[in-house]
Amino acid sequence: AQCGFIFDLDGVIVDTAKYHYLAWKKLANELGFEFTQEQNEMFKGVSRKRCLEILLQIGGITASEEQFNTWMVEKNTDYLAYIAHMDATEILPEVPKVLEYLKKMNIPLALGSASKNAVPILEKVHLKEYFDIIIDGNQVTKAKPDPEVFLKAAKQLGLAPQHCVVFEDAVAGIQAANTAGMVSIGIGEKEVLNEAHYVFNDFTEITLQFLDQLMKPTP
Ligand code: G6P
Ligand code: MG
Repeated sequence: AQCGFIFDLDGVIVDTAKYHYLAWKKLANELGFEFTQEQNEMFKGVSRKRCLEILLQIGGITASEEQFNTWMVEKNTDYLAYIAHMDATEILPEVPKVLEYLKKMNIPLALGSASKNAVPILEKVHLKEYFDIIIDGNQVTKAKPDPEVFLKAAKQLGLAPQHCVVFEDAVAGIQAANTAGMVSIGIGEKEVLNEAHYVFNDFTEITLQFLDQLMKPTP
């Protein structure tokens, strides 16, 4: 059967994780506590709302619904300011080469991201045209590690989950792909992403032969 490839956005296609981190750190500091890079690991692949819940827990802060929503808006406003000048130079190494090759091989491609900012980011870096299907934070109700985002992508691609390959940099994302019954490929550190079927530091380590192997028809 035909197979499809599903890409996470933040940390896989573009290096926006650092901007998410800066925006959360700014809010934490304003609220009077520290937020470290290690703690930020937990935020990868996790919805904005869930991230704020965790952040407030770290700071030992309880907020009214109104206050919570104000901080959600503040974080996103800061984040949008950080990414305002983003362009194609922020695409991670050899991502375009991989997308180009998969397109050439007529492989259906989807984006599966928790971000509500996914479409404007893809437009900024001029990669939107590569994706046949885009599922982002505006279309899912259950955040990763729930498999909803990837299952929706597979369904819209018209493919069975076991014929889909997922690229992810987040632990929650790898878990979502595995639960969906897909092939999971971690982009990042082996120690962190040890639940993935395969792990690479980045796309420069991924050969076209490896992609060919993933494309091989499965029964
Ligand atoms: C991605 C990032 C997360 C972020 C989430 C929501 O999954 O890895 O760190 O919290 O998207 O992003 P948003 O742009 O909607 O705030
Ligand atoms: Mg990610």
